[in-house]
Amino acid sequence: MKIDVVTLFPGWFAWFLEQRHVRNAEARGHRLEVIDLRATTPLQGGRVDDTPYGGGAGMVIRVDVVEAALAERYRCDPLELPEQRRVVALAPAGRPFDDALASELADAPELTLLCGRYEGFDERVHERLSSDVVSVGPYVLSGGELAAMVVCDAVLRKLPGALGHAESATEESFSAALEGAPEYPHYTRPATWRGTDVPEVLLSGDHGAVRRWRLERSRARAPRLP
Ligand code: ADE
Repeated sequence: MKIDVVTLFPGWFAWFLEQRHVRNAEARGHRLEVIDLRATTPLQGGRVDDTPYGGGAGMVIRVDVVEAALAERYRCDPLELPEQRRVVALAPAGRPFDDALASELADAPELTLLCGRYEGFDERVHERLSSDVVSVGPYVLSGGELAAMVVCDAVLRKLPGALGHAESATEESFSAALEGAPEYPHYTRPATWRGTDVPEVLLSGDHGAVRRWRLERSRARAPRLP
């Protein structure tokens, strides 16, 4: 899989790119590249934003600046891109990012992540240049960079060969194997610690009972609908 991250702050990704799971993914042929949005701006003095029409605080990233970055990168009319690949704009008002969306994005051969800053993107970036607008939670970050790292991390660990054990990704929190519920609790040695024992069923060697207990504990952790 090829992931391109478009950002005004490429330096934020230096640490992320050095991490072992990202390097391992690259060793398996996947690519994660960071593109500086400012490098291709058509505006004087490296400007990328402007004041909002209608007034108000903050600055808005211009659609023509994003267009220029995408045109340079993909050598096509960026209006055609959302038909050809997943172009994900990160914004607090987007579709909530969850396990199902991570799997969906991991199935795509190529992915572009657009990181907003300031008041975010001109709405036409969402409407005309993106296939998806995605939020990592109902709170406002200082920009889309951390959100893009969340998406990259969740997507990279879905790719075949990312995890040591084949089961680890299928039977984990929010997966279909656990009916979308959070994962069951894990324990390891010591079996008794400061008066708290590991649940007996886990020591029983009865695999069927262990499976039933885990599913039941996983279901018990699922948020109740109001
Ligand atoms: N940019 C700022 N806040 C964000 C959020 N919660 N999700 C995605 N992108 C963002």
